[in-house]
Amino acid sequence: MSELPHGAGPLVGLAGRTVVVTGAGASIGDAYVRAFVSAGANVVAVDLLRTARSALGTARAVTRTGPGRAVFAPADVTSTSDWKLVVERTIAEFGRLDVLVNNAAVYRSLSGKRPLGELGVEEWDDVFAVNVRGTWLGIRAVTPSMADCGGGSIVNVSSVVSRTGAVGFAHYVASKAAVEGLTRAAARELGVHHIRVNAVAPGLVANDASRTLNTDEYLGAAARARALSRPMHAEDLIGPLLWLASPASAFVTGQTVVVDGGQVFA
Ligand SMILES: NC(=O)c1ccc[n+]([C@@H]2O[C@H](COP(=O)([O-])OP(=O)(O)OC[C@H]3O[C@@H](n4cnc5c(N)ncnc54)[C@H](O)[C@@H]3O)[C@@H](O)[C@H]2O)c1
Repeated sequence: MSELPHGAGPLVGLAGRTVVVTGAGASIGDAYVRAFVSAGANVVAVDLLRTARSALGTARAVTRTGPGRAVFAPADVTSTSDWKLVVERTIAEFGRLDVLVNNAAVYRSLSGKRPLGELGVEEWDDVFAVNVRGTWLGIRAVTPSMADCGGGSIVNVSSVVSRTGAVGFAHYVASKAAVEGLTRAAARELGVHHIRVNAVAPGLVANDASRTLNTDEYLGAAARARALSRPMHAEDLIGPLLWLASPASAFVTGQTVVVDGGQVFA
């Protein structure tokens, strides 16, 4: 990532950078947008138009408190033409593109836990279209602008289930393993442009999405399985995310950082 003469924030050097966050309309993406703006970055918050009410509300609220600024850009990450619009909007709005967080996924909208023999082909394809193709299209779309800025950081969002497996979610588990493979492939290719590509693999977060898909008993068991035996919150992801996004991790690429309170030791 190129150095901004006036841009180093006190902690992580994100002040004055431009960050694109996908899946910004739900709880974890919302926390990411708030954290980047608090760190002085400008954010393009991307999500489906159906989330406009919450995503726009967050963008306006964080812009009032600053020090960064956020705008909402409705887009479907499975669409190449939508990605083109997101990048054009980012450059028009902020003049540069330094960081991409590929957080959008089919997760809450999974149709529930099903044995892998009973998963529908259409649902399998939907999960891979968003979680894997969407991540790849995002990387592809931002690469030229990041390269023009002298480099950048891409953070893909995986899940700890890529290591543990999970009963009833074979498509989701496989898609997150694919995200980690894509992370390593992209890191290998894009290093030449000074673009770093890493992933975070969160444990089970106690949010609306997880409560939709899992019983309280299951969430409790996940918390007890951790070395740090407590429920996980979106805020637990902020430190590792900002670190991977910022020049503080300038020599780290191709890695997946597990953030799960010590459920698995990767
Ligand atoms: N919640 C957890 O416990 C947990 C654990 C590990 C990893 N994760 C990952 O963290 C990320 C955020 O999780 P969450 O709990 O907020 O999930 P969520 O399902 O509540 O949010 C996903 C967001 O992505 C958006 N999205 C879906 N399809 C899209 C598309 N085609 N284009 C643009 N946006 C689209 C949705 O509208 C939603 O706002 C996901 O990548 C998820 O897989 C979550």
